[in-house]
Amino acid sequence: MTHGETATLDIEIDRLLADLAALAAVGGTGDGGNCRLALTDDDAGGRELVVGWMRDLGLEVRVDRIGNVVATRAGIDPDAAPVMTGSHIDTVRTGGRYDGTLGVLAGLEVVRALDDAGVRTRRPLAVAFFTDEEGSRFAPDMLGSLVYAGGLALEEALGTVGFDGALLGDELERIGWAGDAPVPGPAPHAFVELHIEQGPVLERSGIGIGAVTGVQGIAWHELTLTGQSNHAGTTPMSLRRDPGLVAAQVAVAVRELAANLGAPMVGTVGRLGLHPDLVNVVPARATMTVDLRHTDDAILSAAESRLKALVEPLAKAEDVSVAWRELARFAPVAFDETVISLVEAAASARGLSCRRMPSGAGHDAQMIARMCPTGMVFVPSHQGISHNPAEHTDPADLAAGAAVLLDVITELAA
Ligand code: GLV
Ligand code: MN
Ligand code: MN
Repeated sequence: MTHGETATLDIEIDRLLADLAALAAVGGTGDGGNCRLALTDDDAGGRELVVGWMRDLGLEVRVDRIGNVVATRAGIDPDAAPVMTGSHIDTVRTGGRYDGTLGVLAGLEVVRALDDAGVRTRRPLAVAFFTDEEGSRFAPDMLGSLVYAGGLALEEALGTVGFDGALLGDELERIGWAGDAPVPGPAPHAFVELHIEQGPVLERSGIGIGAVTGVQGIAWHELTLTGQSNHAGTTPMSLRRDPGLVAAQVAVAVRELAANLGAPMVGTVGRLGLHPDLVNVVPARATMTVDLRHTDDAILSAAESRLKALVEPLAKAEDVSVAWRELARFAPVAFDETVISLVEAAASARGLSCRRMPSGAGHDAQMIARMCPTGMVFVPSHQGISHNPAEHTDPADLAAGAAVLLDVITELAA
């Protein structure tokens, strides 16, 4: 069959839903959610399942030195660079069943649809999943795709120490997913990632498909505040050096900073720990993270400077020391106009409503965009909820997104 005869080509939503459900059973948290933190045993379980499906489809599976998996379907032209799709299968600790997994499993469903229709594309087609997209265990986020794209040296990535004290390279070896394919990986011809929106925009506007224009910039900082641990009953308030107080003030300051800069600035304190974490002890230490994001890199940098300027006097007033560690810093990324237009055209051809929109979340596409023309397809998230077991997207929306992915990929690979 030639490209002009692909009208009957379509995905089968029941197969995609079955795969999503089977993967969600690995590391299931019993509340509809998933915990497959990067390079844990449950991540390995998910990897085995998905790679089994890749092999069943006759794809050539390659695992690279940071554990990224790329499964390739041959094209008519063996020398042409592949069109790549994919995402991630690791999750945050309280993850849902669609974040990342949709993009990987829809990629496999695209392969099945092409197989069923007997379509061979001119270019090879690659379906990838990248190691540690979430960054919840090993920062930065999008670590595997960053290494794939040459933005982080392999040795540095392998030497990353997780929030649980584990060494990334040790964990990759331990679970048996340190492959031998070199990094950086080969540049694809183009990259397209299907993902749930993870926010409220599509659902609120009653639109089925997002043609993603780019990803906002991300800055992650970790603060370690150190004071004087002492007895809660005997230490007068005037003599305290309480890092817990400063952490609370910083959390309030982050909210005010975001409010003052205004949308689309967002700021989050997602981790906050007190040590020794006891009811009757003034804490010795507080560790916290601040996640700042904005679509404009200059405003994001200004927000980082303001944060530093806010923290110092709060710490000084309590005689608490502050150590800063940058965990992630990514500039905003603009996607390729050709790919964005292809997403719009594919949605329109299928009678689906579509709007252009930036991504609030970080994505592997943001890293692969350094290598080749890149774009993303978003589908609605029910009530805009994600990084939460309640994450949900209606099957009809999943099917629409997978169909648009199919059409964009076949067009790019023709
Ligand atoms: C990654 O998923 C992020 O946006 O934090
Ligand atoms: Mn994701
Ligand atoms: Mn995520």
